[in-house]
Amino acid sequence: MTAIPPILLVGLGKMGGAMLAGWRERGLAPSVAVDPTMPAAPGPEVTVVADAAAIPAGFVPAAIVLAVKPQNAAETLPLYARYAGASVMLSIMAGRTLAGMRTLLGEGAALVRAMPNTPAAVRQGVTVACPGPGVTAAQRALCDTLLAAIGSVAWVDDEALLDPVTAVSGSGPAYVFLLAELMEQAAIEQGIPPALARQLARETVSGSGALLAASAEDTAVLRQNVTSPGGTTAAALGVLMEPAAMPAALSRAIAAATRRSRELAG
Ligand SMILES: NC(=O)c1ccc[n+]([C@@H]2O[C@H](COP(=O)([O-])OP(=O)(O)OC[C@H]3O[C@@H](n4cnc5c(N)ncnc54)[C@H](OP(=O)(O)O)[C@@H]3O)[C@@H](O)[C@H]2O)c1
Repeated sequence: MTAIPPILLVGLGKMGGAMLAGWRERGLAPSVAVDPTMPAAPGPEVTVVADAAAIPAGFVPAAIVLAVKPQNAAETLPLYARYAGASVMLSIMAGRTLAGMRTLLGEGAALVRAMPNTPAAVRQGVTVACPGPGVTAAQRALCDTLLAAIGSVAWVDDEALLDPVTAVSGSGPAYVFLLAELMEQAAIEQGIPPALARQLARETVSGSGALLAASAEDTAVLRQNVTSPGGTTAAALGVLMEPAAMPAALSRAIAAATRRSRELAG
């Protein structure tokens, strides 16, 4: 077992559960998880309790990972303010700003705000993290280790970047799933039986993702590699790459998500 200090996970839902699974795969230290639904502990090294009052006495976490819904922040975070001096708080809550969380945890709280995405469930997420004031190098390294268990991690110092990050990588898996959905529908329109249409759409998206992950080439080069002049791919891309088509739609979509992230921030 890797010798890292104990972790307290607050919120054992989809994202918290994915993080815990990633930590366990890496043999990270025993943890306590708090969740009112009391899901079964995934192993003997994890204690699951229903609320902050049931955390074993004497358990002093080095990191507290805040993985509850943003709308639960106001009622939940003050319950953990007592740890603020000893623990770094790593929040993955969308839209909860460092300043907003400090008002709930105390001005002296060492906080890291991070935005992961759902491929974390298969340890292929990408997370952008931003440290708040007073986070030590050791605390930042611990947060990096915890986030690296669910995929890659990039750090930024400008918290304002988390709005467009949310729009690109946080919400991004939905855009890719939409692409698969629309390809399936279009395949059916061309007469492909529904089961085969579903298989072709899903496996084209997942296989292309795997190829992209395995390649150092620019995405434009990978695209050009399947595009012969005058061929079928060129015919399709001629439609998709019309400036008013996919380029405009994605640009508008990501701008809309960025705006919405700013509106929801607090
Ligand atoms: N899913 C994404 O794409 C994504 C991406 C990036 C970041 N995030 C962030 O990740 C966080 C978790 O999202 P999720 O999708 O994992 O949500 P989720 O599945 O609803 O998980 C949240 C869990 O926290 C529990 N909970 C509620 N109040 C609590 C409390 N006071 N103490 C401890 N646990 C409590 C909930 O229980 P109940 O169900 O009983 O309320 C639920 O099991 C959110 O803040 C979200 O913004 C999500």
